[in-house]
Amino acid sequence: MFICERHGMQGKRLRKQTGGSAAAVAAGLVLAVTACGGGGSGSGGGSETPATTLVSPGAPASPSVAVFTAATAPARLSAWNLILSNGQTLSLQQGVQPYSLNTALFSDYSHKFRTLWLPKGTQIGYMAEGQLQFPVGAIISKTFFYPKAVASAPGLVGAAQTDQVDGGETVDLVNNRLIETRLMVREPSGRWGAVTYVWDADQKDATLVRAGQNVSVELVSAQGARTPFTYAVPSDNQCLTCHATNVSTGTFEAIGPKANNLNRDYAYTTGSANQLDTLAALQLLAGYLAPAPRMVVWNDVLAAPVAARARAYLDVNCASCHSATGRSANTGLWLELAVTDTTRLGVCKPPVGGQRSGQFNYDITPGNADASFLFYRIGNYRSGVNPPSVAMPELGRHVLHAEGNALVRDWINGMAPACPP
Ligand code: HEC
Ligand code: HEC
Repeated sequence: MFICERHGMQGKRLRKQTGGSAAAVAAGLVLAVTACGGGGSGSGGGSETPATTLVSPGAPASPSVAVFTAATAPARLSAWNLILSNGQTLSLQQGVQPYSLNTALFSDYSHKFRTLWLPKGTQIGYMAEGQLQFPVGAIISKTFFYPKAVASAPGLVGAAQTDQVDGGETVDLVNNRLIETRLMVREPSGRWGAVTYVWDADQKDATLVRAGQNVSVELVSAQGARTPFTYAVPSDNQCLTCHATNVSTGTFEAIGPKANNLNRDYAYTTGSANQLDTLAALQLLAGYLAPAPRMVVWNDVLAAPVAARARAYLDVNCASCHSATGRSANTGLWLELAVTDTTRLGVCKPPVGGQRSGQFNYDITPGNADASFLFYRIGNYRSGVNPPSVAMPELGRHVLHAEGNALVRDWINGMAPACPP
């Protein structure tokens, strides 16, 4: 019962085709016609075998991305044929576009390799504000990995200060350790379905995990200091805790792919180019009108002042819950970029509750981070200890984000004192 669409060779890269590959692409354009209908046997064991693909005579028999719903997701990541690993290198099926974000979610110093793929002939609808509109069958992936601190000890991972991949179309598995690959797929209902796969020790394939899983890793700093912690692969319900950004519908929504966060360069194998321009040139983005808005990069100190970077950081890391429609709307602390009311941002706003709130008059006490409940709540991660319930965000974080905290501290300390005593 996967979505009835399979294709070969779609989404040519912006690369000048040379030699044999040009011929292959030309032939591939004829391609794979879908044979649907067979897989209707319902829930029995999950339809891991895609329906027969009819390939036009002369077309390369190249396998192509297979689309499943979340409910019928195959047990092995390789069955999607989206992200491929031979144990040495993680690479992408043809037509799968890598992307990164200006400002990303911090997840325990893991690095993230993000991709998107669209069924042949479909496009993303451009929106200057809000989420881009993805067609049915679209798949977005996010692979979490760590650089190995010691190549022979995959449990020891490096605490690098970068938090995402800003270029490249492969991940070198000799020097990096894959943890999980999360997928979301636009289902025929128009909703997103989402699943995650945890990578096997040999790094050749990953297994569907619906109930969450703990992975022990140890961050090793450049100075050799070790921080052991438990990386928690979220359960399906935990995905929703962050991704149901509108509690009244409760459906899984995309968070990252907005025009302002995608509006940046990516180092493709063919060279560096703006991501939105690239998608438009590949005919994957409809209605795009440059220039798009641009979110600042939270840690690019030369590019934007502290306040703008702190707001971008809080938008991506907090606003999935802290918005007018989110899970913590009722705290009155709304942290998305568009908020201009300083009380909504927590300035001189008494906390509504939460452990230890009694010790703080305000979420943000301008000029004094240490007297601000908001700063207190992002500072309570301790190595080897599960986040105490006071720590924010409540999910997906087990180690202190020193650089993010320093930014929020600077932002609050730089505000002119304002609250009534
Ligand atoms: C702690 C909150 C949180 C949890 C839990 C979480 N996500 Fe996300 N996820 C985010 C945020 C924020 C982004 C966008 C920023 C980024 O990618 O860095 C995102 C991005 C993604 C993306 C890329 C597309 C997008 O929306 O930006 C996928 C795919 C994804 N998540 C899948 C999942 C799945 C599947 C689960 C559960 C296994 C899950 N996420 C759990 C917060 C979360
Ligand atoms: C996965 C959802 C989620 C995310 C993401 C999240 N929060 Fe929260 N937050 C909550 C919930 C639920 C509450 C209310 C219960 C409580 O106080 O613990 C809350 C309460 C708070 C409060 C108390 C507000 C008040 O006025 O009472 C602060 C401060 C806070 N969060 C800061 C943050 C910051 C800063 C971030 C991002 C770094 C963040 N949160 C991310 C769910 C979230």
